[in-house]
Amino acid sequence: MGLSFNNSTIDDLKSQINIVDVVGRVVALKRAGANYKGVCPFHNEKTPSFVVSEQKQIFTCFGCGASGNVIKFTQQYYNLDFTEAVEKLGNEYGISIKRSNFDENREKYYEVNKEAARFFYRAFTEQKNAGYTYMKNRGLDDAILKKFGIGYADEKWDSLYNHFKAKGVDEKILLELGLISESKGKYYDKFRNRVMFPIINTSGKVIGFGGRAIGDDNPKYLNSPENKVFQKKNNLYALNISKQDIGKEGYAILVEGYMDAISLYQGGVRNVAASLGTALTENQTRLLKRYTKNVVLSYDADGAGQNAAMRGSEILIKDDCKVKVLHVTDGKDPDEFIKKNGREAFLKLIDGALPYIDYKLRYIRRDMDLSSDDGKIDYIKAAAAVLRDLSPVEADVYIKKLSKELHIAEGAIKMEILGNNSNSSRNGQPAVPQRNHREEVQEEMSSLEASIIKSLMVNPGLTEKLLDYSEIMASTPARKVMDILFELYGLNGDFHMNQLTDRLDPEESEALSNALDKIVIAGNEEQVFSECINTWQRKRLLQQEQDLITRLSLADEENNPDSINQLTLELMEIQKQINSHGGRK
Ligand code: GTP
Ligand code: MN
Repeated sequence: MGLSFNNSTIDDLKSQINIVDVVGRVVALKRAGANYKGVCPFHNEKTPSFVVSEQKQIFTCFGCGASGNVIKFTQQYYNLDFTEAVEKLGNEYGISIKRSNFDENREKYYEVNKEAARFFYRAFTEQKNAGYTYMKNRGLDDAILKKFGIGYADEKWDSLYNHFKAKGVDEKILLELGLISESKGKYYDKFRNRVMFPIINTSGKVIGFGGRAIGDDNPKYLNSPENKVFQKKNNLYALNISKQDIGKEGYAILVEGYMDAISLYQGGVRNVAASLGTALTENQTRLLKRYTKNVVLSYDADGAGQNAAMRGSEILIKDDCKVKVLHVTDGKDPDEFIKKNGREAFLKLIDGALPYIDYKLRYIRRDMDLSSDDGKIDYIKAAAAVLRDLSPVEADVYIKKLSKELHIAEGAIKMEILGNNSNSSRNGQPAVPQRNHREEVQEEMSSLEASIIKSLMVNPGLTEKLLDYSEIMASTPARKVMDILFELYGLNGDFHMNQLTDRLDPEESEALSNALDKIVIAGNEEQVFSECINTWQRKRLLQQEQDLITRLSLADEENNPDSINQLTLELMEIQKQINSHGGRK
């Protein structure tokens, strides 16, 4: 992608724009020595660990490991690709952007898609056609069809191809965009006898199409293939139209299908977008978060739709969104529901949408028989695993609910949440319950781990310090790297990158270098190292504090003064340690 602009443009950009200015527009920065510090916009924190170096023109977060130059910041913050970030910066700072051929090419792709959309639109509006009849039968008004630019691809094999040929458009582009196919040296239209839904990104560019069969043709929906300008995982259908409404309403409704989105929009529920028929992705979440963090998932009522809603909510929750799941009670999807029952009824469904945790609890009990004791026990165990991830206050709300519902003592549910091994004591730390979910093996190296490894590569002497904190390396790949480094260091008191990579498989080695590439050491490596250790310790202490508070509330409820005293002492000790590690978040 870096090829899409002249190198001199990128250099101009970097030399003329001050990263402190760009970051400072969106993050409150305070001078700290030679650098600036603020609260990281890329993860949730309250104590600033996000550092911008004016001298080096880079940013680094010691909490989450995000780092890079001004372009990278713009990409990540505004969820743009490289090209878009360069354009944004260029425009804002009045630096003229010289494109190489590669990027004119990209513009050309957008233009061709736009022309195809116009062609389909004319076929849909200028004469009688099966597509228009179909959409009218599905209850859509002309105004809405126009708003969404709905079109028709006729049943002939070469209408679109001939249209572009007459305009002299290169077949290669048409092939790559998936508008035509080739067979035995002949070209033919890919979309035939279908209603065409242009997919338009939030910058207003036509990036692809969904084509719905009019009869029972298979597949029901044919989508543009992935290509240079169309990546399903990065876009949401209708967001170009609904983004203002989403901002206004303060939340977004996510649906599965094109028709669901259009139909809700027509029905007056306009803050809607569709996930393009695939499982929701992290990139889509990030895109949506430009407009809101509050999401109501409204997927199909069937099992597949509910599974998708469960997966989708996990992804959104992981990215700090607030999620509710709506259940369509009449008809199989939001489209059918709103057509039958109207806007007010749909708004009632939104009001009744289940918050994520309630939905998750209902989801795990969907096949359980709660009338039997065994069923109840299974459910409580599964529910406890869910509640274990909540803050004590949140957990308390659900413990009360469950207790009432199942006639099981609150204390028993709490014990289940704390698990059986609540008396373990490690490394001289006060006893705290070990949570199962923290024992899970992570398969990917975290940025914290990568930062540590990178500091060790710069300064192998730090290996000795890591010996005391080896638990910090939790993921499988990081542990493997650490073990090798310990061994090399033990043998030679030193090591080099190639000694390490010699001992890794090619894939492991590539994954490592990718992870390390993302880390820029802004201060000196010893400082990076100790900030990493500190971040990790603080996180662990806060976790221990939460655990103690839960146990204390239990002891309180049980009226157990000995435990209360003991736990209070432990809590005070932990809180002292938290203060000495930079305080609460
Ligand atoms: P419509 O209301 O006509 O959209 O049919 P439906 O309600 O049965 O839609 P369905 O739940 O089958 O599909 C929902 C969404 O999944 C669609 O809008 C498409 O994005 C996607 N989808 C459905 N069928 C296909 C298919 O055959 N191929 C692909 N690529 N996507 C599909
Ligand atoms: Mn439908």
